[in-house]
Amino acid sequence: MKRVVLGVSGSVAAYRAADLARDLMRAGCEVRVCLTDAAQNFVQPALFEALTGQPCLQDVFEEPVRGRMAHIDWARQADLILIAPATANTLAKLAHGDGEDMLTTLALAATGPIVVAPAMNPAMYTHPATQASMESLKARGVHFLEPVEGDVACGENGQGKLAANSQIVQETLLILHRAEKLKGQTVLITSGPTEEPIDDVRFLTNRSSGKMGMAVARAAKLMGAEVILISGPTSLPTPTDFRVIPVRTAEEMRSAALGEIRHAHLVIGVAAVADYRPAERVQGKIRRSEEEMVLKLVLNPDIIAELAQAHPEKKVVAFAAEPTSDPEVARAKMLRKGVHAIAMNDVSRPDIGFGADENELKLLFTDGKSAESGKQSKLGCALWLLEKLTEA
Ligand SMILES: Cc1cc2nc3c(=O)[nH]c(=O)nc-3n(C[C@H](O)[C@H](O)[C@H](O)COP(=O)(O)O)c2cc1C
Repeated sequence: MKRVVLGVSGSVAAYRAADLARDLMRAGCEVRVCLTDAAQNFVQPALFEALTGQPCLQDVFEEPVRGRMAHIDWARQADLILIAPATANTLAKLAHGDGEDMLTTLALAATGPIVVAPAMNPAMYTHPATQASMESLKARGVHFLEPVEGDVACGENGQGKLAANSQIVQETLLILHRAEKLKGQTVLITSGPTEEPIDDVRFLTNRSSGKMGMAVARAAKLMGAEVILISGPTSLPTPTDFRVIPVRTAEEMRSAALGEIRHAHLVIGVAAVADYRPAERVQGKIRRSEEEMVLKLVLNPDIIAELAQAHPEKKVVAFAAEPTSDPEVARAKMLRKGVHAIAMNDVSRPDIGFGADENELKLLFTDGKSAESGKQSKLGCALWLLEKLTEA
């Protein structure tokens, strides 16, 4: 039985949470409810305790089991946290990591999937602050059920009504199912750029931000995998819910990947590994002079090809950042590297690719099959990619 924590915040639509709790129970879930203070102006804990047969949490210092911190217990025991309805205020708190009440503290402690269904006045919904909260939560993997258009409780009309209960239940079940897809599997991901030192203060690198690799890692985690991320230097915050191995050069990335691959079922090479490195690293700092300077470069290892060839029993997938949308370039690369599939993206487009928040992938398989993700957030592309790879 799947355990869902249903968080209810202070919207008029809180009355619908009672039916939602029942619908989730009918769908086979155990439901535990947590109310914000504002929600209790609309609905009472006794209602949910009677409906679910479980204690209903309201206060952050509440302990249904004496000596056990409920926010940690509930977060660990939940397969999914559903916040419906979610107010603009609760969205802002979630986005900022505010743990002022039981619901937001519980959400902070959660490491599993979070589904959010906002409900509010249309002006509140379209307010840049609310939209920014949603964007930042989406980037962290929170799944949203957008509100629908219609007459809202205050008498205005527009987008802001809580999505239909049937849709909330259906999506919740889908996310619960997705969270199982990579259970028991370890996904090894290489990500970001590499830095190839010229001397002690200079290096050769490229424009990779590491966002796509991080999105693949986050998506794999959302799908239940154990994740190992080998990352070149990036400015992204270091995640704490999976293992990250920081590296700098292609050689370091290679030895980390060869050391970790034995644990992996699926390997995805998202890193933009420098093809060449300076033939020698000068100690100290190269001084300016009137002389012309020639930098000799030598070929770096092709890490993903080496992994694929050394471990034909594992599914190894490459990324191809190409300044073209012609799939034949990526297909040739896939065959040359001996990988199972290749995900191509066109880095000549400024709206996708290096540094952008969105991407568009073309996935090619060795058997000639292919699929396209369409343009979406990098996390959306990553989830799409992993779904396709688990189907294949
Ligand atoms: C009658 C009434 C209805 C409200 N409905 C909503 C709503 O649908 N969505 C929303 O974001 N805020 C709504 N609010 C405002 C929130 O209740 C308020 O911002 C509160 O601080 C939210 O707290 P919470 O996020 O901790 O539940 C409403 C307020 C009142 C008085």
